[in-house]
Amino acid sequence: MSVQEVLVDRQGEVLVQSSSPSSHGKRFYIESYGCAMNFSDSEIVASILQEESFSATTDLEQADLILINTCSIREKAEENVRQRLRVFEKIKKRKPGTLVGVLGCMAERLKEKLLEEEKLVDIVVGPDAYRDLPKLIGTASDGEKGVNVFLSREETYADISPVRLDSNGVTAFISIMRGCDNMCSFCVVPYTRGRERSRDPYSIIAEASDLFSRGYRDVTLLGQNVDSYKWSSPDETEKVNFADLLRRTAAVDPLLRIRFSTSHPKDITDEVLHTIAAHRNICNYIHLPVQSGSSIVLKRMNRTYDREWYRERVERIRTLLPDCAISSDIIAGFCGETEEDHRETLEMIRFADYSMSYMFYYSERPGTLAAKKYPDDIPYDTKKRRLQEIVDCQLEISLRHNQADIGKTFEVLIEGNSKKSDAYFKGRNSQNKMVVFPKREDLKVGDYVMVKVLDATSATLKGEITA
Ligand code: SAH
Ligand code: SF4
Ligand code: F3S
Repeated sequence: MSVQEVLVDRQGEVLVQSSSPSSHGKRFYIESYGCAMNFSDSEIVASILQEESFSATTDLEQADLILINTCSIREKAEENVRQRLRVFEKIKKRKPGTLVGVLGCMAERLKEKLLEEEKLVDIVVGPDAYRDLPKLIGTASDGEKGVNVFLSREETYADISPVRLDSNGVTAFISIMRGCDNMCSFCVVPYTRGRERSRDPYSIIAEASDLFSRGYRDVTLLGQNVDSYKWSSPDETEKVNFADLLRRTAAVDPLLRIRFSTSHPKDITDEVLHTIAAHRNICNYIHLPVQSGSSIVLKRMNRTYDREWYRERVERIRTLLPDCAISSDIIAGFCGETEEDHRETLEMIRFADYSMSYMFYYSERPGTLAAKKYPDDIPYDTKKRRLQEIVDCQLEISLRHNQADIGKTFEVLIEGNSKKSDAYFKGRNSQNKMVVFPKREDLKVGDYVMVKVLDATSATLKGEITA
C-alpha cells in the first residue's frame, strides 16, 4: 500500500447519500468528508432538511442545494474540499439558481473568510448550527449569504432522529457526545467542534432501540473521547459515565452489537474494560490512538500520557480482554521528532500488535498550540519516508495478526455483498475484522453466522460458513 492510498483512506472518502425523492419540495445533495462524526452529522442535516420537505438526491445535476460537510484535520483534507468546490462551481454556472453550502469543520475554522475565498459559496454553517439551516437557506435563496458558525455548549441534537440514508440497514453510528476538551497540540478539533458535551443517555438508548427494531444489528457510539462521557440529570440525582452507558446500550437486545470510538488512552478505565468483558454483545475491539511511541513527542503533543502509561493500558486490555483487537492512529514527523523517537513509534506498533492503524504525516494546522509553539521542522521527504516505514511495519503486523486467525471460527454479522463478488458475503467479527465468505441461500444481510477462517491478507479474512 502506498502512502497516498493510506491518506486517501480517511480523507478521500466520499459519501453520497440518497433516499427516495418525494414528489414535492426541493432536492439536496450532500457529500461528507472526515471522521465518522461528520458522516453522522450529515444524517442529522438530512433529517432537518427532510422536515422542510427537501428530498435527497445522489445526482449533483438534479440538486437545488449542494452541501459539502467538510474536514479540517489536515491540509490535504481542505484541499480536497476546494477541489470539489471547483466542480460545484461549474454546475452552478450552468444552473445559476443552485445553492452551495459548506458545513462542518472547515466552515467553522474559516467562518466568513470562506465566503471571501470561495465566491460560489452561499451558506457557511458550523457543526453546532445545523438547526439554523432552513433559515439560512431562505436567506441564501433571497440572494444574501447565510452564515452561522456559533459554537454551543449545549447542542447535542438529542431530539433529532438521524435519517439513515446511505445505509446497509444493519450498521449505524450513534453520536453520544460532541466537541473535545483535550488540547492535543497538533489538533484543530477543539477549535472546530467546541467544548465537550454529552448527550442525554435516554435519547441514546431510544435511538439504539429504534434502530434495533428496524433491523439494525451493529451500532457504534461516537465521540472524540468516549471515555469522558459524563451525564447527570438536571437534579444531579442520576449520573451516567461511559461504562454505565455501555451497559445500558448492551441491554437493548443481546443481538445488538455495540462498538465505540474513539477511546483516549488517558481516560479508558478498568471499569470500561470489565464492562466489555461482561457483555457478549459489546465488541472486543478498541481504537486506542497512540499518535507516537515516544514520551518526549507525546509530551509535545500534549497527549498527557507517556509511553509507559500507554503500554500499561495495552497490557491491561490483554489481561482483561484476551481476545480484544486494538487499533491506532499514528502521526509521523511531528515537530522535533528524531530518528530515535520514530524508532520508538515502530516499536510501539510491534508491542501493541495493532490489528490496523490509520497513519498520517504531520500537517500543521493554523491556530493550534503546535503551530504557535513548535516549528514544523521535519522535512517533507523525511515525514514521507517515516510514514512509509510506519505503514510497512503496520502492514506486516496486520498480516501476522490476521494469519493468526486462520483456523479460528468467528461469529460474523452479514453486512452485504463482498466488494469483489456477489457470490460472497462480507461482514465483521467482534474484533472489527472484515471477513468474506461464500454465500448460502438461506442467509441474508443482518443475520449472524459462524465463519471459519481459511486464509488472510493484511486487510481481510477469508473463510467458510460452519453453522
Ligand atoms: N479524537 C481522536 C482523534 C480525532 S482526529 C483521538 O484523540 O484519538 C483523527 C486523527 O487524525 C488523530 O488521531 C490524529 O492521528 C490525526 N491528526 C489530527 N491532527 C493531525 C494533524 N495536524 N496532522 C496529521 N494528523 C493529524
Ligand atoms: Fe483532537 Fe486530541 Fe481531541 Fe482527539 S482528543 S479530537 S486528537 S484534541
Ligand atoms: Fe475532520 Fe472535524 Fe472530524 S476536522 S476529523 S471532520 S471533527
